[in-house]
Amino acid sequence: MSEQSQIRFEDGASYETYMGIWSRKVGEQFLDWLGAPPHLSWLDVGAGNGAFTALLAERVKPASILGVDPSPAQLDYARKRQDVGAARFEQGHAMELPAADATVDAAVMALVIAFVPDPAKGVAEMVRAVKPGGLVSAYMWDWPEGFPFYSVEQVIVGRGLPVVAPPSHEASRMRRMMELWQGAGLLEVASRAITVERTFPDFDSFWAIALTGPRMSAQAAGLSPEILETLRADLKALLGAEDGKPVTLKATANAVKGRVPG
Ligand SMILES: C[S@@+](CC[C@H](N)C(=O)[O-])C[C@H]1O[C@@H](n2cnc3c(N)ncnc32)[C@H](O)[C@@H]1O
Repeated sequence: MSEQSQIRFEDGASYETYMGIWSRKVGEQFLDWLGAPPHLSWLDVGAGNGAFTALLAERVKPASILGVDPSPAQLDYARKRQDVGAARFEQGHAMELPAADATVDAAVMALVIAFVPDPAKGVAEMVRAVKPGGLVSAYMWDWPEGFPFYSVEQVIVGRGLPVVAPPSHEASRMRRMMELWQGAGLLEVASRAITVERTFPDFDSFWAIALTGPRMSAQAAGLSPEILETLRADLKALLGAEDGKPVTLKATANAVKGRVPG
């Protein structure tokens, strides 16, 4: 199996509007819950375009942040951000982190664990890189219902069209997350669900953003304008959206944390 998911994240700017905003909404509550002290060295696994990295820089007074991601396009965007402090970014993947054993204080995967080919190995890699007593944590949309664009998936499936799920989507479920963290030998393992809301100015702006997602943009390229219009109308009806009125959506992520023994 390839080390990177078949779902490609190749546009850092559109990712920001599509998912970065959502990620930070969850990330704010996640970091409050994590309660990490200041001045830690952080490993941000699957840092992507730096959406969550920026939150780390702003909120936890990090001593350092290393963001790791396989996507050159996402990293390119992350490196140009003005809001990530002194964070460094390296190309790499969760299955073989570019960090020596027991060298960082905290490792985190923000919206990543469902994309890694072998989640247990991904957690083991974070445990390997973190010092004894350090933190290993993650959050991921509760797939599929918790995903912010679940309604879009519903209308696609409703028309008999395929949707591609993240390769390890079962790792997004709370029970599985707990098993992964406990199975990796982590201590004080705890989890919680985090529900957030986002309001789009109107249905058209929501639809335009939905079309930029990594899976939807690939799929939409192969659909006729007529089918796309049908999906749009289905979605508008499903959401009960009215012309020119704001559209508010909810999404739920599962979060997990644990401490490296010693
Ligand atoms: C939904 S994005 C999350 C990005 C960012 N952490 C955030 O909170 O917005 C998922 C990221 O996981 C990355 N990814 C996919 N497969 C990976 C792997 N095997 N190891 C590390 N990152 C991976 C993708 O390139 C993408 O940037």
